[in-house]
Amino acid sequence: MIALDHYRQAFMEHLEAVAQDRQPDNLYDPVRYILTLGGKRLRPLLTLVSCDFFGTPFKEAMDAAVAVEVFHNFSLVHDDIMDQAPLRRGKATVHTKWDLNTGILSGDAMLILAYRYFENYPPEVFQKLAKLFSQTALEVCEGQQYDIDFETRQDVQLQEYITMIEYKTAVLLGAAMKMGAQVARASDSCCEAIYEFGKNLGIAFQLQDDYLDAFGDPETFGKQVGGDILTNKKTFLYIQALANSNEQQAEQLLAHYAITDMEDAQKVTEVKALFEATGAVSAIKQEIARYTEMANNELDRIQLADEKKEALRQFGALLMKRSV
Ligand code: IPE
Ligand code: IPE
Ligand code: MG
Ligand code: MG
Ligand code: MG
Repeated sequence: MIALDHYRQAFMEHLEAVAQDRQPDNLYDPVRYILTLGGKRLRPLLTLVSCDFFGTPFKEAMDAAVAVEVFHNFSLVHDDIMDQAPLRRGKATVHTKWDLNTGILSGDAMLILAYRYFENYPPEVFQKLAKLFSQTALEVCEGQQYDIDFETRQDVQLQEYITMIEYKTAVLLGAAMKMGAQVARASDSCCEAIYEFGKNLGIAFQLQDDYLDAFGDPETFGKQVGGDILTNKKTFLYIQALANSNEQQAEQLLAHYAITDMEDAQKVTEVKALFEATGAVSAIKQEIARYTEMANNELDRIQLADEKKEALRQFGALLMKRSV
């Protein structure tokens, strides 16, 4: 098992220093708020682990790890605006605690802050990191736009959904790992393989996020359960449920997903029952396992000691079981 606490502790000290000395407070208080709200710190840990596993002290990847987490938190602040989400990590979202303009500008500032952490690397590493980061950040925007576009479309195909989550979520996990490898100056083929490992794990991760959004425990999940159903997100659960539906079930699903009321608790209950009855719930669990397996297969292409590969496999297995 990877001793994650060791990495996490070192990481948190660096994260807590972000924007500590900057003014005005009306811009940076929300930044400091979201960054210290908790969260799993999954992406920066992947960066640190990857650097370590490719033979370089993980502290050398600390600035890249901070950049990845600050970027992730920027994307959450804007995502919560776009998704009309009231809760994040069990607390009020930035735009509900402050207001919309604060969410927009504090988010923008975080995106720029994130970039500045790459300036601490020597030119050849900086160039690689910045190039990967720009490409990834653009793909996240593209994925987020597809996600929103799909809310008002009824004919979203499974493959379109997979591309959407690859962009909005999975590429950042891939990039987080690849950055660690780049800091460690791993070979191009290792950088590519670890990227693919992270990306496939990221697809499994977003599938699990979609499952938890509907079926997570409201006491512990930290986000509004049912938010994806209320905003008519075309997740795997919805697409699969529709594909497996009989005529009556399809009619019900389509009727529910024509409603735009964010308070409709009955809609959430009935849609969840349809997800179960049509077998979409068991299908998503299989799909999560399948992408985790695809991630593991990428490890065969990497030059890493067997115990390190095993630690990465265990990490993926842990993610599949998460409830937060
Ligand atoms: C939430 O990511 C956004 C998704 C891509 C699903 P996480 O589940 O990693 O959120 P935190 O950082 O742990 O809160
Ligand atoms: C988030 O997808 C992806 C990004 C933030 C880029 P979701 O909208 O599913 O994330 P949560 O569920 O709000 O964390
Ligand atoms: Mg969201
Ligand atoms: Mg979203
Ligand atoms: Mg979600």
